[in-house]
Amino acid sequence: MVGTLLLTVWVGLSQAQPGDIDANAGGLSALRGETALDIDKDPGRIKDPVKDQGIQDRQYIHQPPLVPHQVRGYEVDLKVNRCLSCHGWKNAAARKAPRVSPTHFETRDGMTLGDISPRRYFCMQCHVPQTDAKPLVDNVFTPVESLR
Ligand code: HEC
Ligand code: HEC
Repeated sequence: MVGTLLLTVWVGLSQAQPGDIDANAGGLSALRGETALDIDKDPGRIKDPVKDQGIQDRQYIHQPPLVPHQVRGYEVDLKVNRCLSCHGWKNAAARKAPRVSPTHFETRDGMTLGDISPRRYFCMQCHVPQTDAKPLVDNVFTPVESLR
């Protein structure tokens, strides 16, 4: 048993070259593509966000709607929340922006607060801007019937 294990390890080591893909890893290609772990991959360009594209259809009932505009420079930290300056209930009408829904005031225990709930404060945890990227893997997802 011990002998077999040692032999396997030795054969593995003797064949591996830097940059090699481990064919025994199940043949899966990770998001970093065919680049081996010991090689630094070129990070590529950050994708350009899609400019104002209008409210996007939702694909399922509790989906956080996609952000249909650019968000560059919209600060969200302890003191400022730029998203709420347009989407908060106070300013939304004046900014012609949709208001955050009442769920955004609820704590996880179901209490309704007078201001945005801490668990909904970091908007882009759930709402994501869009870029014109090709899907990384095939996807056959279709929206639920009532939204088609
Ligand atoms: C300057 C005002 C402004 C700011 C700041 C702003 N938005 Fe918006 N947002 C809008 C407007 C206006 C719309 C509606 C766009 C339309 O009708 O085409 C919108 C639409 C959206 C929607 C789509 C809602 C739906 O029902 O589909 C989401 C989600 C959203 N914004 C998220 C954000 C997030 C997250 C931030 C901060 C990173 C942010 N917005 C900052 C003005 C703003
Ligand atoms: C934990 C996830 C989460 C976070 C964080 C979050 N949202 Fe949402 N948001 C949702 C979901 C899910 C929906 C759709 C269902 C609903 O209204 O609750 C939604 C809906 C919305 C809508 C559409 C409301 C409507 O009536 O159609 C707007 C606008 C919005 N969010 C803005 C924001 C802004 C601005 C922030 C940050 C202050 C934020 N959200 C933070 C999950 C989130």
